Amino acid sequence: MERTLSIIKPDGVGRCLIGEVIKRLESSNIKIIAMKMLKMTKKQAQGFYTVHKERPFFDSLTDFMSSGPVVVMVLEAENVISKYRDLMGATNYKEAEKGTIRRNFATDIEKNVVHGSDSQESASFEINYFFNSFEIV
Ligand code: CMP
Repeated sequence: MERTLSIIKPDGVGRCLIGEVIKRLESSNIKIIAMKMLKMTKKQAQGFYTVHKERPFFDSLTDFMSSGPVVVMVLEAENVISKYRDLMGATNYKEAEKGTIRRNFATDIEKNVVHGSDSQESASFEINYFFNSFEIV
């Protein structure tokens, strides 16, 4: 069993897509083993996306991610990192496969509705960023 971190971003929450994303997870046999809604500060968003701190989109991304509530979840399934990334589709929604969350709902490369960890190493950092062991059931 593998774990990953999912975020429904401020655009997804604001556009009432929480249920849509969760429905897709559950119908793909991905288990939600922790979940909460929160609003990040700019500093918390910068800490979360620290791997991107040299990228030109870092300031805009962290403004966006701290602009409204997000839903963070820990997901568990076999190969869930790639399984969830397949459900999300490519970062750039224009390149995402048909039927994926981003292809169906993203409006912009930044406002792409969801985030998912890209490796076991980042999943471990990202899960620990938001959850302690008592919150993962
Ligand atoms: P996410 O999977 O959360 O990881 C980094 C985020 O940066 C990405 O989704 C997008 O929301 C955002 N982003 C904005 N511009 C770019 C870009 N040019 N390339 C990659 N990610 C970008």
